[in-house]
Amino acid sequence: VSSQPHCFHCIHGFALAITSLSAADVAKQYEHIRELGKGTYGKVDLVAHRTQGTKIALKFVTKNKTKLKSFLREYSLTGSLSCSPFIIKVLDVLFETEDSYVFGQEYAPAGDLFDIIPPQVGLPEEMVKRCMQQLGLALDFMHSKSLVHRDVKPENVLLFDRECRRIKLADFGMTRRVGCRVKRVSGTIPYTAPEVCRASRTEGFLVATSLDVWAFGVLVFCMLTGNFPWEAALPADAFYEEFRRWQKAGCPAGTYPSQWRRFTDDALRMFQRLLASEPEKRCGVKDVFCFVKYELVSELRRRASCRAKRGERSSSGVCTGSCSSSSSSSTPRPSHRHPEPSTPPGTSCLRPAPLKRSVLSDPLSPREESGQHQSPGRDKNKSQMVMATAIEICV
Ligand SMILES: Nc1ncnc2c1ncn2[C@@H]1O[C@H](COP(=O)(O)OP(=O)(O)OP(=O)(O)O)[C@@H](O)[C@H]1O
Ligand SMILES: [Mg+2]
Repeated sequence: VSSQPHCFHCIHGFALAITSLSAADVAKQYEHIRELGKGTYGKVDLVAHRTQGTKIALKFVTKNKTKLKSFLREYSLTGSLSCSPFIIKVLDVLFETEDSYVFGQEYAPAGDLFDIIPPQVGLPEEMVKRCMQQLGLALDFMHSKSLVHRDVKPENVLLFDRECRRIKLADFGMTRRVGCRVKRVSGTIPYTAPEVCRASRTEGFLVATSLDVWAFGVLVFCMLTGNFPWEAALPADAFYEEFRRWQKAGCPAGTYPSQWRRFTDDALRMFQRLLASEPEKRCGVKDVFCFVKYELVSELRRRASCRAKRGERSSSGVCTGSCSSSSSSSTPRPSHRHPEPSTPPGTSCLRPAPLKRSVLSDPLSPREESGQHQSPGRDKNKSQMVMATAIEICV
């Protein structure tokens, strides 16, 4: 590709050269095998290099949704973290097409973690513990470099085998340095920490490692149960409110919130630390390592909680007890339905929310938070060297 025009971007004295390739050039170099994923900002394709035969993943980021600066930040950040065995490796493949910026990554042949979590059942505990250890190490590595991932969720965990013996954290598009002020994107997902859900859209919030710790706690819950603990960490969410009240009351034994009854006391202690409502009281991600030696889900409690749930329904499958009037119709409630907002928290009628793929960013606006520096600028003259400081590019 040396005959192709390049655009150089200097980071820490190193130049990042972006080659311009037409769609035909890309097809000449790479055989398209299949699409691996599609997101708000682009897609990831599995391709094979035509002469070398190696399979790689190409991440295409649409130009009209992402600035060059953000794309380069994701590429350089991923590259700077790639020395960890638990973080996806970027390759020396970086180019732009007419409509996308593209970089190459090692291919994770077993897909992502979301795809292997059996809905409403969860993964075997041994697998969850392997994931906790590897992801804990990936996040701890990032945190030791004062970087916060900000989009921890199963879709961003890539697998090299279906038993989760080798997994890697990916997708550093949202990663920022600790202490950066960022604007909140509209909407929340179940992994979003309560302080972010509450943050004002104009003032934003300061990036902290405790955001990843919260998301990690939610992720562990999802892996163990196949459900979300709540849809949003907001008082209007009945599941969250039930959990928060229990926490506020000092987590009394014997009155566990409905979704948490299956866990052992050790697991509940771990969740209390990961999901402490005040970010300052949240533990570090490393603190989970001491919990992997304990049993997390109690088979006895799980069965008792299932029996209790069955007993709480009438033969028609409709909730009995303190349900709101909306659930007293003769039509059985679909098991995946989220409670009506009017359902009082702490009742037997709560139905867990099943996992679904979550998108953090506002699909209508670019992923750059407003209020950040402007892009270093893209000169139409492709051979021009554009200088940017490391700080501008990296965080
Ligand atoms: N290296 C890879 N190997 C296998 N599958 C991958 C790889 N990279 C991404 N995928 C698949 O593609 C999906 C989307 O990738 P990724 O998370 O990087 O993009 P995105 O969510 O659109 O990114 P962003 O949030 O930065 O816009 C992943 O959830 C995963 O299923
Ligand atoms: Mg992603």
